[in-house]
Amino acid sequence: MSGPLLALDGVSINRGEVPIVHDVTLAVRPGTITVVLGANGAGKTTLMDGIAGLAQVTSGTIQLGQAPIGKLPTYKRAQAGLGYVEQARTVFRSLTVEQNLNVSKAGDGDLGMAYGLFPELEKRRNLQAGHLSGGEQQMLVIGRALVSSPKLVMIDEMSLGLAPVIVRRLMNAVADLLQFGISVLLIEQFANLALDVGTHAYVLRKGRVVFDGPCTELRGDADRLHECYFGSVDAGAGEEGLAR
Ligand SMILES: Nc1ncnc2c1ncn2[C@@H]1O[C@H](COP(=O)(O)OP(=O)(O)OP(=O)(O)O)[C@@H](O)[C@H]1O
Ligand SMILES: [Mg+2]
Repeated sequence: MSGPLLALDGVSINRGEVPIVHDVTLAVRPGTITVVLGANGAGKTTLMDGIAGLAQVTSGTIQLGQAPIGKLPTYKRAQAGLGYVEQARTVFRSLTVEQNLNVSKAGDGDLGMAYGLFPELEKRRNLQAGHLSGGEQQMLVIGRALVSSPKLVMIDEMSLGLAPVIVRRLMNAVADLLQFGISVLLIEQFANLALDVGTHAYVLRKGRVVFDGPCTELRGDADRLHECYFGSVDAGAGEEGLAR
């Protein structure tokens, strides 16, 4: 396929009656990791929820593999090849690892990819998910998104609250997804780690795209990133997210 795998054109999204995301045009090319950055409250999760059909898209179009999906219910978007690892890291705590994966299995999906990417999970397949470490639970949540053989996976803040060594492990696994033919739309607070694995980046500020370009343009450029996140007027506010 030469065109984008996922294409948003002029998409605006509400939370309830409140407009949060405004006129976003975005593309994920096949075989790439595309990064979405932005300060807390910029609208990143709302953007993914809109793509997944969990928040109301009020204008614009969303295409997956050139098919319009913007009016489909969430489960049909998933069937069309859209995987979503949501920001809340929720597993079924009293079910085993394998049962958690099976619950998410659609049609003839299989667990091989999840176990291939995360051998840790296969070793603990009969353990109740509530006994896994935070990092392993995140692996399980990502693994669950893989069992229905998606073409594209959206991953929202998988590193939240995890130790840097685990975050690196997860980031390497995300990069490995490309070898399975899965493209990625990645939201990440650890901007520099995301920019290292990503090809193209978007930065959202107050629900609008304020940067659209190659990751290399932002990589290691804290000043530029800061300006994208907060604008020059707010300079000095909220640097915590960029330091990591
Ligand atoms: N259910 C809701 N109703 C109204 N406003 C909401 C709702 N959920 C989120 N918002 C608001 O929408 C804005 C964007 O929130 P969103 O969660 O999309 O941001 P985010 O970029 O993912 O932030 P974070 O980095 O903290 O996860 C915020 O101002 C938030 O307060
Ligand atoms: Mg969020």
